[in-house]
Parts: sequence; structure tokens; C-alpha cells
Amino acid sequence: MSLNYQCPLCQQTLNLTNNSLKCSNNHSFDFAKENYVNLLPVQQKNSKQPGDNLDMVQARRAFLSTGHYQFLQSAIAKIVQKHTPRTIIDLGCGEGFYTQEIAKLSNANVYGVDISKSAIKYAAKRYPQCHFSVASISQAPFQKGMADALVSIFAPLFENELARLAKSDGVLIIASPGPWHLKELKQKIYRDVKAHTPIAAPNRFEPIEQDLLERQVSLGFDELKNLITMTPFAWKFRPEHWQALKEQGEQHVTLSFYISQFKRST
Ligand SMILES: C[S@@+](CC[C@H](N)C(=O)[O-])C[C@H]1O[C@@H](n2cnc3c(N)ncnc32)[C@H](O)[C@@H]1O
Ligand SMILES: [Zn+2]
Repeated sequence: MSLNYQCPLCQQTLNLTNNSLKCSNNHSFDFAKENYVNLLPVQQKNSKQPGDNLDMVQARRAFLSTGHYQFLQSAIAKIVQKHTPRTIIDLGCGEGFYTQEIAKLSNANVYGVDISKSAIKYAAKRYPQCHFSVASISQAPFQKGMADALVSIFAPLFENELARLAKSDGVLIIASPGPWHLKELKQKIYRDVKAHTPIAAPNRFEPIEQDLLERQVSLGFDELKNLITMTPFAWKFRPEHWQALKEQGEQHVTLSFYISQFKRST
């Protein structure tokens, strides 16, 4: 197995020996029994449990397992495959829902990185065909210019890292909320719901193509609860909002996504 990580402490190449990754300065990182590696040094940990917590992870798994986001999963994997990449990094991959579909459609070496240990544990247990690590994507544990394709799905964007990680002819594929994503739910909280705009080209990338995917779905209370809990939008929901949602029962909700493709510019 060829694994291409760099040490998060000294940026030297990490080599695989037995069940650990080691650099020439003797920094060592063991693989967990679920087969992921933790490359997040304490200095980069800004809280005890960085990233999405277990509640968010479980809610997202429960919601994604309903199949309502399958059209997005499949569209993203097809778009990535169109570029025939050999090395792909899914930055902020969560529980690997998109990562594993991307790996299924390609022969590439597929890496998934997330700062949330709960999410990576889940991903690594289920999808052994991908390489998962707990790490920060603000200082990702990979060599410069290593990725033919970078994927970012509803995850934070760190422009300098994107430019550093992409090959000179590499692509960046970003999924972000479309104009009226979840508008029916947002209307319950905000008087004035604003449309999301597409992601602008990050520094040192230029746009190649953009798709807008939209669907209306009908969701029951449990599905709505999971969908809300898996987003930061949940923090806005007060007990009275949850109660109103419960009383209303099944609801039509707009799902809307931009998939933006960029290529690395010089
Ligand atoms: C909205 S979730 C999306 C997860 C996954 N891409 C999906 O769509 O199912 C955002 C993810 O970014 C991760 N994240 C946030 N900040 C991060 C950072 N600095 N480094 C790595 N991951 C980060 C969170 O832990 C979370 O899993
Ligand atoms: Zn090192």
C-alpha cells in the first residue's frame, strides 16, 4: 500500500512501518484499530473535541441513510471521475458518505481528512478502500502539489492550503448550498431569508464549470430533525421552533446545491 502523508510537526515525509507512520525526526503516529491515523497535534487542536460532535455525526448519518442526498452524492462522484484523477483528497470529509462513492467510481488513491474523530472513526470502519485521517485541513498532512483533485463538500475552505495541495493542473470541486437550500426551514427562523450565492474562485484557481442541482422533498419530523441537527443552523432552533416543527408533521423542503469546478492557475 502506498500512503502519501507528511508529518504535521516537521513536514517531512511519513513512512509506513508496521502499524505506524514515522518521519525521519522520529515523530510517530499509530493507526487506530479502525484503520485511520490521527495526524492532529495537540497544538492544532483548538478544543477538546474539534469539528463536528457525535450528535451531529449521528444525525448526518441517519439523514444521509434516507437516500435524499443520493442524487448529490452521485453527481459529485461523476464530476470528480470525469477528470480521471489518480490522487484525490476529500477535505472535511465527515463520515465519508461522498468519499466512498468517489472511490467507488475511480481507480484513484482516495484520502478523506476531517478534524472530527467521531466522523473519521465512522468512515474508516465502513470504507476500507479509502485512506482516512484525523487532521486539520488548515494545515493538511500532505506534500505540496500532491492532489489531482481536491474535493470540498460543505466544509471550510482554506485558500492557501488548496493552492498548496493541488497539482499544477489539478482541479478543485466544491459543493455548497444553492440559492434557496432549506428555505422553508429558514423561514421559520429568519424574517428575511437571503439566497446563497455561488462560491467565488479561491486564490490561484479559475472557474471551469458550475452546476446547480435542485429538488423538492417531503420530510417527516425525524428526518427534519436530523437534517437540522447536522448543520450549524441547529444552534438557531429554540424549543418553540422544534415544537412547531413537530406539530406541523410532514413538510416540503427545497434541497439546492451548487457544484463548482475550478482548475489550478499559475
Ligand atoms: C458540514 S460538515 C460536511 C461533512 C461532509 N463533507 C459531508 O458533507 O457529509 C463539515 C465538516 O468539516 C469538518 N471540519 C471543520 N473544520 C475543519 C478543519 N479545520 N479541518 C478538518 N475538518 C474540519 C467538520 O468536522 C465536519 O465534518
Ligand atoms: Zn516529523
